[in-house]
Amino acid sequence: PETPDPSIISDSFIIIGHRGASTYAPEHTLVSYQLAQELGADYIEIDLQMSKDGVLVAMHDQTVDRTTNGIGSVESHSLEELKRLNAGSWFNKKFPLYADSKYEYLTVPTLEEIFAHFGKETNYYIETKSPDKYPEMEEKLIRLLRSYDLIDGAKVIIQSFSEKSLKRIHKAEPKIPLIQLLSYQKPAKLTEAEIKKWKQYAVGIGPNYQMVDRAYIKKARRAGLLVHPYTVNSKQDLDQLIKWGITGVFTDLTDSLSKEWKK
Ligand code: G3P
Ligand code: CA
Repeated sequence: PETPDPSIISDSFIIIGHRGASTYAPEHTLVSYQLAQELGADYIEIDLQMSKDGVLVAMHDQTVDRTTNGIGSVESHSLEELKRLNAGSWFNKKFPLYADSKYEYLTVPTLEEIFAHFGKETNYYIETKSPDKYPEMEEKLIRLLRSYDLIDGAKVIIQSFSEKSLKRIHKAEPKIPLIQLLSYQKPAKLTEAEIKKWKQYAVGIGPNYQMVDRAYIKKARRAGLLVHPYTVNSKQDLDQLIKWGITGVFTDLTDSLSKEWKK
């Protein structure tokens, strides 16, 4: 497939509501995504897992243990079983400061429910998680995007740590802007070979912000790559990253900081 056209997506600064507004509401629930939008997020971030019967659902972990009242892997639960789980009461217990009775009975949303609820007015920033584990994750995702008419207009960005997953998507739908996620264990350096490789299928990169510096960001930007670091929750860190030239940010705190950032 052709290399991506960077103009597929604007390089104006974007705020990505990480797992929704996950500081204030149970992550990956409709309420959390809704709140992120209300607080000023340009995109809502959705991590994908898959049920035993092959339905894409929004969840960060491979197990349901942390964010529901159930136990075990997502892939060992049918959709019906996942739907019986409570996806909000854990949050009220863990974060009493932000607890709310309306979070008590939330459920795990499917990707389709999210699209049906938010429609075409919302921008989605979707991550294929553990794609090697889940058969046809990319194909299912693309099918849903097509049926909700979300391919054109850069309403959707897809991100993954898996190069293979991104390449599969690029091959099937070259119009979707893709972000290569990166997890550095030590201060990061960007090589020409990496830039060349990523530019074949992606419009940008998403590194863990703690390991990147000015030189890294400048080099990526000079090469025409968007840079969306994760997960930035302090104004001080953000100010510095903006000075260095990032083009967007994943954050759990979409509210007060977003007002500052958009000034
Ligand atoms: O997708 C960007 C960032 O969310 C990656 O980390 O673990 O929160 O999905 P994680
Ligand atoms: Ca993510």
